[in-house]
Amino acid sequence: MKRTTYAGLVDESYIDKKVVLKGWVQKRRDLGGLIFIDLRDREGIVQLVFSDEYSADARTVADQLRNEYVIEIEGNVVARSAREVNDNMKTGKIEVDVINAKILSTSKTPPFDIQDNVKASDELKLKYRYLDLRRPEMLRNMLIRNRITQSVHSYFDQMGFVDVETPTLTKSTPEGARDYLVPSRVYPGSFYALPQSPQQFKQLLMGAGFDKYYQIARCYRDEDLRGDRQPEFTQIDMEMSFADPEEIQEYTEGLIAKVMKDTLGVEVKLPFERISWDESMARFGTDQPDTRFGMELTDVSEIVKDCDFKVFSETVKNGNQVKSITVPGGADKYSRKAIDSFTKYIERFGAKGLAWIKVTDDGFSGPISKFFTDEALQKAMLDQTDAKSGDLILFVADEARVVAASLSYLRVTIANELNLIDESKFAFLWVVDWPLFEYDVDLERYVSAHHPFTMPNEEDVHYLMNDDEDPHKAYAQSYDIILNGLELGGGSIRIHTRELQEKMFKALGFTKESAEEQFGYFLDALDYGFPPHGGLAIGLDRFARLLAKRDNIRDVIAFPKNSKAVEPLTSAPQPVSTKQLGDLGILVEHPEDINRRE
Ligand code: AMO
Ligand code: AMP
Repeated sequence: MKRTTYAGLVDESYIDKKVVLKGWVQKRRDLGGLIFIDLRDREGIVQLVFSDEYSADARTVADQLRNEYVIEIEGNVVARSAREVNDNMKTGKIEVDVINAKILSTSKTPPFDIQDNVKASDELKLKYRYLDLRRPEMLRNMLIRNRITQSVHSYFDQMGFVDVETPTLTKSTPEGARDYLVPSRVYPGSFYALPQSPQQFKQLLMGAGFDKYYQIARCYRDEDLRGDRQPEFTQIDMEMSFADPEEIQEYTEGLIAKVMKDTLGVEVKLPFERISWDESMARFGTDQPDTRFGMELTDVSEIVKDCDFKVFSETVKNGNQVKSITVPGGADKYSRKAIDSFTKYIERFGAKGLAWIKVTDDGFSGPISKFFTDEALQKAMLDQTDAKSGDLILFVADEARVVAASLSYLRVTIANELNLIDESKFAFLWVVDWPLFEYDVDLERYVSAHHPFTMPNEEDVHYLMNDDEDPHKAYAQSYDIILNGLELGGGSIRIHTRELQEKMFKALGFTKESAEEQFGYFLDALDYGFPPHGGLAIGLDRFARLLAKRDNIRDVIAFPKNSKAVEPLTSAPQPVSTKQLGDLGILVEHPEDINRRE
């Protein structure tokens, strides 16, 4: 029997018609004379009715059905009686009286119910991912992802971009994370790296004259995993020749607007707001600000620089800062105990304390209010922090880095706790003009804020070119696109001359020889008429997660890894046979033993 339509698509327009459907048994209800089966397929669920009245044979088949059996049926579509109409279902006005039924496949009882919001551990769901993906909410996530990729391909095609695949067995790209390595059998002891991104290849395509490139590209990074990171993930990657940052941002905005429309039917307003990295850090304490709510950081250093609370005044005298956030209505909502637990939490950012003032009708209250009894001082504080009676002001006094990390954490945590975030909003924002370098506290050296191919601002090029200047002062022609407080993507204009690229490697601590050894082929390419160019990459998994409104990017990846980088379905990674290792010339030792020996 050939299927005539999807179960989930049978509606009133099919009444009095015959249909052939194939799918899974969602539920079976036996009412003696009648057996009801909910039949599920990709598009939804339809109710089947089995009765001796329609077919005794089919009714016998229905007796044997259990959840998740796969069946095919033929039946007549009829209107439900008014009493039985279910307006919440697309198929709720009809049912199918079955005249023929056949079991195509039987099923064990699944380890969890195939339905939304099922109570089962993530591990169990990942182990039986093919069952998890049968659940309508998971299917919906994957369909949203599919809508996005279809929209992306169509956008770039319309705009004249060329889709080019770049290698996944390649030399490592220094994107900041550890590489996944693949041993070469032909050259024992040599390894390919899986790309952290197609960065150098897409630049080489600009050198090749492709002008506009895009790719939906798999990327691999061996880094600590979080809700927004997977070891293998996907980028919507693009690059353009002869473009300035604004042009690349405009193309990106066009892409995002189309995807939002095609996927969710949402019209976004263009252009997106642009703020500089400095402003973002000052107002939000982070380079990925959530602009769906207020509670911005306020600098109160000027006001408190001569006050009697030594923690504040000394901090300012030492060249550091005192900043605050004002929690609307926070005076009643946060007890001393709750504030103490925040204080404890922000210790991890290096904060030495969290000072607070509750604003009441009678003035300030709290342990440090005694230092702020002066009326003019109180007024200045209220004006600066925009606080009013009933509000709570939280202060951190420290180095800029510590203040930013602590207050940006508190801002988002409190906004979530107090439900200040409008979850229906999509707040896109560009953060532009990044520093070219950032200091890595763990490595104790400067690293690229974006990557080593990023072009400095024109007026800052001299910091790199002149050997007696400090290159780390330079700002970059780079930009990140933020959605709801999360970095969705990032890009930059690239360096396109050998001279500047060599200076860049030098500023990152490479010797001439080590730069040549690692990037010689790339530097050589810059010798042959390389056009000015730039680009950007958006994290597809993050984008899909935000559009599907899920908490973890796992939910929009068909077969993801768990938080320990294991794929529970296949149990990868696994040891391989001695024969396989032998072919590759690899002897496995415990890393600790090797490190101890060295
Ligand atoms: P970047 O390293 O900023 O830039 O990556 C671009 C975007 O990719 C996503 N992303 C990830 N998503 C899931 N899991 C991960 N582990 C992960 N790492 C990154 C983020 C991020 O914004 N080649 C440059 C782009 C360019 O300059 O054109 C690059 O890779 O959403
Ligand atoms: P103390 O003077 O140590 O009793 O601290 C008084 C209040 O100031 C407490 O609430 C501390 O958490 C807070 N505090 C101490 N150091 C800092 C700091 N560097 N920034 C903000 N608050 C601080």
